[in-house]
Amino acid sequence: MNKKVVDLLNAQVNKEFFSAYLYLGISKFFTKINLPGFASWYKVQAQEEQEHAMKIYDYLLDNDEDVSLDQIAKVKVNLKTPLAAAKEADKHEHYITGEIEKIMDAAIEAKDYRTQLFLNWFITEQEEEERNSKDMVVKIEMLGDDCKSLYLLDKEVGSRKG
Ligand SMILES: [Fe+2]
Ligand SMILES: [Fe+2]
Repeated sequence: MNKKVVDLLNAQVNKEFFSAYLYLGISKFFTKINLPGFASWYKVQAQEEQEHAMKIYDYLLDNDEDVSLDQIAKVKVNLKTPLAAAKEADKHEHYITGEIEKIMDAAIEAKDYRTQLFLNWFITEQEEEERNSKDMVVKIEMLGDDCKSLYLLDKEVGSRKG
């Protein structure tokens, strides 16, 4: 495979694991402010991010490339409100979409058709991720972040299973 494409895929494995870490940080925030439904939603999301990382990990190994398991960055966000937490996630998903698109650009440039096909799944997934993260921001904004509406919303989002 093209070296640039391999390097970018390797970096993306790390970014997906960091995403899992970030979502755990957000989940922890909601646990601490007694909103277990939100905490569970973001924990499910953290698991999904690990699956994303493993998809790329498997793809690299299936194509006889190496996977560099680099250090995962520390989660530095200092969340203050549910809305800020939801916005942090939304901002992160837009960043991830941009990173996936950069790998796609490199795969197109390298005429790596197999990786382009592989990345199509991620392009579609990012559409879903952006929709979900925006949804969360809109819901919190719509209901307001008073205790009563957050309690109700917490019940709703807590039903997410996968
Ligand atoms: Fe992801
Ligand atoms: Fe997703």
